Amino acid sequence: MKRVDDLDVAGRTVFLRADLNVPLDGSTITDDGRIRASLPTLTTLTSRGARVVVCAHLGRPKGDGFAVRAAGGPSLRPVAGRLSELLGQEVAFAGDVAGESAASAVAGLDGGEVALLENVRFEPAETSKDDAERAALAARLADLADVYVGDGFGAMHRRHASVYDLPRLLPHAAGQLVLAEISVLRQLTTDPPRPYVVVLGGAKPSDKLAVIGNLLTRADRLLIAGGMAYTFLAARGLPIGRSMLEADQIPQVSAVLAAAERAGVEVVLPVDHVVADRFAADAVPEVVPADAFPDDRLALDIGPATRELFARKLADAKTVFWNGPPGVFEFPAFAGGTRAVAQAISAVPGLTVVGGGDSAAAVRQLGFPADAFTHISTGGGASLEYLEGAVLPGLTALEGQ
Ligand code: 3PG
Repeated sequence: MKRVDDLDVAGRTVFLRADLNVPLDGSTITDDGRIRASLPTLTTLTSRGARVVVCAHLGRPKGDGFAVRAAGGPSLRPVAGRLSELLGQEVAFAGDVAGESAASAVAGLDGGEVALLENVRFEPAETSKDDAERAALAARLADLADVYVGDGFGAMHRRHASVYDLPRLLPHAAGQLVLAEISVLRQLTTDPPRPYVVVLGGAKPSDKLAVIGNLLTRADRLLIAGGMAYTFLAARGLPIGRSMLEADQIPQVSAVLAAAERAGVEVVLPVDHVVADRFAADAVPEVVPADAFPDDRLALDIGPATRELFARKLADAKTVFWNGPPGVFEFPAFAGGTRAVAQAISAVPGLTVVGGGDSAAAVRQLGFPADAFTHISTGGGASLEYLEGAVLPGLTALEGQ
């Protein structure tokens, strides 16, 4: 795979596919981690005199292209503002993706300057399953630039026009973020130092069963928390009140638990919970043991005994991968479990990787410095699919000639 340093970019227009899919509260960016992570490649390109056209997606707008924006769909305009602040230079914003506004923003760039295109997912062809539709959009995007740099690691698992089809049309290379992500994730898949402990949280087991299946051949311990833990607890016959349950996944979860036992992988589930009567920041927290879960409550965090148990299971780890917060960390009363897990992982002297937009946002929001972990990945689904051993279309495209 070519690296961005191998490309001749001086005086050329570079199409930079980044992952700037940041959480927003209205038009306020609540975590700018992915914007910051895109800066090394961006500044490498601008300092080498490239004209840089940045392309990214935001959210999952559905429906008729720009009509979505007109109806309040997710625009990248606030991201252009934050990017300008972080770069210390004005970033021109194009109000479309491959139309007149994009062409004029690119035509107005001098060497070392940057323009950001509007949310590429406002073009329905970006995510189309129809190869010809995606190819047509890729051809329009290719007209904007001379070379392509793929640096949106978080979107590499998507067979989308700007990720998969476009690099085939232009000389291309991988950006620094993609190279850094791969180099760390590769360490997790090639004989990681043991014990290798994986902490999985987040909402649904259905999103994680494939990676769990793969981890059973590599990890020594799986600590499962967050919304997904309740389907696991239900599969073990424990009460879960009104907590999140994917009832149709119980057979698959039971099969995974049995496979873990056969493989000698220890699966650790919560032994107590912080519950409430509703999903709300001002709900009153209450600690209950796992075998006495009240029928009318739902779990919003792991309890103190689970935090201690998880810390003990992490204490001797040499490698840790963590994806998905164990509690609703956005609500201060239910952030204790996520803080405790982050604390325990940050104390591990070995390789520690935090993956997934939510867990990365959680450690930043809870005030952990970036160097508390070996690596905070920008990839959610992309990191999981990489660890599953899946082929990531965006990486395949960058590997091709
Ligand atoms: C992410 O948030 O994991 C990436 O930006 C990919 O977004 P997607 O899951 O909407 O494709």
